[in-house]
Amino acid sequence: MKVPQTNYKSPFRFSRASHSVFSSRDLVKSEEFYKEVLGLVVSDADKDTLYLRGLEERSHHSLVIKRTTDAPSCERVGLRVFDEDSLERCKYTFDQNQLPCEWVERPFQGRTLHAFDVCGTPLEICATMDRKPRLDMDVPSHKGAQARRFDHYQITIPDVEKAAAFYTSIGCRIADYVTAGGHPIGVFLQMKDTPYDLVFLERDGPSFHHFGYIIPDIQAMFRACDTMGELGWGQKVEYGPGKHGVGHSYYVYFLDPDGHRCELLLPPIVYMDGDDEPHVWDVLATERGTEAWGLPARESWFLHRSQFKGVPVTAPQSYSSPMTLEKYLQVAE
Ligand SMILES: [Fe+2]
Repeated sequence: MKVPQTNYKSPFRFSRASHSVFSSRDLVKSEEFYKEVLGLVVSDADKDTLYLRGLEERSHHSLVIKRTTDAPSCERVGLRVFDEDSLERCKYTFDQNQLPCEWVERPFQGRTLHAFDVCGTPLEICATMDRKPRLDMDVPSHKGAQARRFDHYQITIPDVEKAAAFYTSIGCRIADYVTAGGHPIGVFLQMKDTPYDLVFLERDGPSFHHFGYIIPDIQAMFRACDTMGELGWGQKVEYGPGKHGVGHSYYVYFLDPDGHRCELLLPPIVYMDGDDEPHVWDVLATERGTEAWGLPARESWFLHRSQFKGVPVTAPQSYSSPMTLEKYLQVAE
């Protein structure tokens, strides 16, 4: 089994995963959830759209939520490049790869590309956004988890190897590569210094699994869980708190009022040097899997995802069903 190698001579490189665009059937509930539980702040809002950001973020938004009367979905996942020149070279590279890619205009963002990757994931790519003040020092206003900054998102797709080959060809590094008996089932792709910006796991897709925000400490995580309980969303604390083996960070997963999944995590380890080789995990070779400790996730964590609006979903050729909490408890009986 060979891990795909990064092409450091790619015409452009993504600088980070930057934002997600979702739809919601109830913007009032969405605003309450993201302000009170995650502690995000509203950068702008109108009757149909909310723009939110973390406390230390200077970019205008890392989460966009649009009103819908249809089933809630994920519209696009956002990536940033460093400057306008890189954005031009990004457009050129997608065109060369014969992938759909077109210029669009989006509020509060500089020139923006709407593109699809090789797996059909709908991307929104830009180099600049309007600037806002950091609020991490405005301590009296902080709420819930006091989420600092957007970190990563995870997407399920039927062919992890295909995604890994594409993203490494355009300069992304692999931090972690997860296999099952040598067959790739997960790739953790790094753009900034933290271990992952964009994660693909093998399952039917493309579908949106979750996005993650960095929080300052474990107390903030418990405060967010307490807030979920107090606001009547205690059953939506879906998985955790626990500790990942990948990234070494503490986590908890919540479902928002529309069923979109978000993760709160403490700052993970960093991959900084050119000779930091990918960590290869074979889940069949270790009893522990990729989690440091704790019980397996409940079945819903594996099965439930947000669908990408208007994007067809396909299933992998073969898929070994994971150990869920429900199965684990049956075996333990
Ligand atoms: Fe995550």
